[in-house]
Amino acid sequence: MERLDKILANLGYGSRKEVKALVKKGEVLIDGKSAKDSSMQIDPEKSEIIVSGEKLNYRKYIYLLMNKPAGVVSATFDNYDETVIDLIDDEYRAFEPFPVGRLDKDTVGLLLITNDGELNHRLIAPKWHVDKVYYAEIDKKVDESDIKAFENGIVLDDEYKCMPAKLEILNSDENGSEVLVTIQEGKFHQVKRMFNSVDKNVVFLKRISFGPLLLPEDLEEGQCRELTENEISILKSI
Ligand code: URA
Repeated sequence: MERLDKILANLGYGSRKEVKALVKKGEVLIDGKSAKDSSMQIDPEKSEIIVSGEKLNYRKYIYLLMNKPAGVVSATFDNYDETVIDLIDDEYRAFEPFPVGRLDKDTVGLLLITNDGELNHRLIAPKWHVDKVYYAEIDKKVDESDIKAFENGIVLDDEYKCMPAKLEILNSDENGSEVLVTIQEGKFHQVKRMFNSVDKNVVFLKRISFGPLLLPEDLEEGQCRELTENEISILKSI
C-alpha cells in the first residue's frame, strides 16, 4: 500500500501539492469512485486509477530500448553534453531510469534504459555472458589473421586479455572493411581498443544487438520504445 499522492507524484503527475489539487477537483478516480484524500493508501497493482479521464498504466519498472544517436552520452547527467536520458519523454523520466552499460558518445545503436537495478546488474556482469553484436567500419583491410586474433583473445593496451570474440567480415579491401563483432564483456572503448591492438581503427560503430534484443530497423536514432512483456521475461530469464 502506498499514498496516492506519492504514487502520482512518482509517475510525473506533479508535486504532491499539485496532486492534492487534482484530487480536490475530482480528477482522480479510484476503482470508479472519486478519490477523497490525496493521502489515502491504495495498492496501485490492484486498484484502477484514472486521472483526468485517463487510465493509469502503473508499473514499478520501465524498460526502454533506444536507438542511441551519436553526440549524446550514456549517463543520467552530464555538465557539458546531452545525455540519453535528456532524449526520453518526461513520462519515462519520472521513473528515474539509467542506461544499462555504456555506449561511447560517437557510438550509435541499441541501448537499454531501465530503473530495474537488479536486471541492470545481471546484464552487465561479465559472468552472465550476454552477447553484444556491433557493426563496425574499419579504416584498413581486415583479414583471417584478425579473425584468429579475436578468437584467441585480444590483449589490450593495458595488458588485459579479452575473452574470445567473434569477428565476421562483411566486406574488406585496401580501402577499409565492414565487420560484425560479438563480445560478451564491456570494457571501456572495448571494440575500438581491440582493433587498435591489431593496428586498425574503428571509424563507425553501431550496436545491433544486446542478448536476445535486436535493434529494430524502424526505430530511428534518438527514438525509443518500451520492451514488450515477452521481451522483458526473456531478458530476465537469461
Ligand atoms: N566498444 C567501443 O569501443 N565503444 C562502444 O561504445 C561500445 C563498445
